[in-house]
Amino acid sequence: MVRGLLSRDAAVAPFQSGRIPQLVFGAGVVEQLAERSLQWGRRVLLITGAHSFDQLDERYSIVRLIEHSSLELVEHLRVSGEPSPQQVDAIVEQLQQQPIEVVIAIGGGSVLDAAKCVAGLLPSGDSVMEYLEGVGRGKQHNGQTIPFIAVPTTAGTGSEASMNGVLSDPTAGFKKSFRHPSLTPQIALIDPDMLATLSPEKIAANGCDALSQLLESYLSTVATPFTDSLAEQAIALMGSGLLPLWESQGQDAAARAAVAYGSMISGITLANAGLGVVHGLAGPIGGLYPIPHGVVCGTLLGAANRANVKALLERAPDTVGVKKYGMIGQLMGFCKEGMDQQSCLQRVVDGLIERVDQFEIPRLGAYGIDEQEIPKILHCSDQKANPILLTEKEFGGILRARI
Ligand SMILES: [Fe+2]
Repeated sequence: MVRGLLSRDAAVAPFQSGRIPQLVFGAGVVEQLAERSLQWGRRVLLITGAHSFDQLDERYSIVRLIEHSSLELVEHLRVSGEPSPQQVDAIVEQLQQQPIEVVIAIGGGSVLDAAKCVAGLLPSGDSVMEYLEGVGRGKQHNGQTIPFIAVPTTAGTGSEASMNGVLSDPTAGFKKSFRHPSLTPQIALIDPDMLATLSPEKIAANGCDALSQLLESYLSTVATPFTDSLAEQAIALMGSGLLPLWESQGQDAAARAAVAYGSMISGITLANAGLGVVHGLAGPIGGLYPIPHGVVCGTLLGAANRANVKALLERAPDTVGVKKYGMIGQLMGFCKEGMDQQSCLQRVVDGLIERVDQFEIPRLGAYGIDEQEIPKILHCSDQKANPILLTEKEFGGILRARI
């Protein structure tokens, strides 16, 4: 029986949580979309993916659901690829005079992020560049947004449960967040059956993103008992669900629920405990190169945790990070009862690397990233709340292992 690490070991230090949407989770819950949206308004802006929306099961004909309700579809916009500040600003400019009362987004993380930003900007008509972290003009958002309802069709970013929208500008070479508690969706409708039409490649890459978000926030130096208790259960579910979901090409219903739940929780834990080296590298890489976020996280997953485990065992063997890696081994089924710590941690590393190989996650080289690019990537990367500070050589070694 696996027990939570902090529930028996640590004192409860003071913490505060961020805002969490009303979570409506379960097979078929998307059919409640119209009735739930009406709590917030009647005139709808619908934002969906460009292609993924058309591939959804007929049961999820959202436009029909809206047309057969008292909702009024003011506009249906489609977003393709990872959204840019320019795209978001253009949508806001186009729609600012429209009487929109609720924004509904149905799609992967990119669609949800774009819609979240649009909902936060429509009341003011401001450019998102006023607010974008690190590259914007530093204006403080006043908290006024259009009520936003998120319906994820992938299991990866956890955007449905978080307060930030991530935007990329490949020309300027950045990937940054527009972040404010009021951007958190009012409601997230998480229907695991929507994962049934995903390709195995998307299940694998997006699932690795969610798994990495859970591991990074669990291992984070600012994790709390609140985030740990959420992460531990979700890591166990991702450990048991992701491989069967990929093997069954989305047809294993129990695996769909496990992975959809894990992804949703990863959005809460990352918002409340931060992330580590995988996302410290994935942000800049996503801004500099045309590589999907899930693929970056997936490709770095094994190498990053190998670097972490090695550094922790060498320089900080008695820290909570080592204990947590042991817990991850138990939660994900990599370690047997009674296994010594060193062997268990090696099994965690080997298990994650095997998973990445099995999923055939592409290497960075497949997207034109070679050895010469490493200094440029490292220059704009950071280690966020990683459980140990890696040396420049160790940090760069994660990239070198996946070129
Ligand atoms: Fe991510």
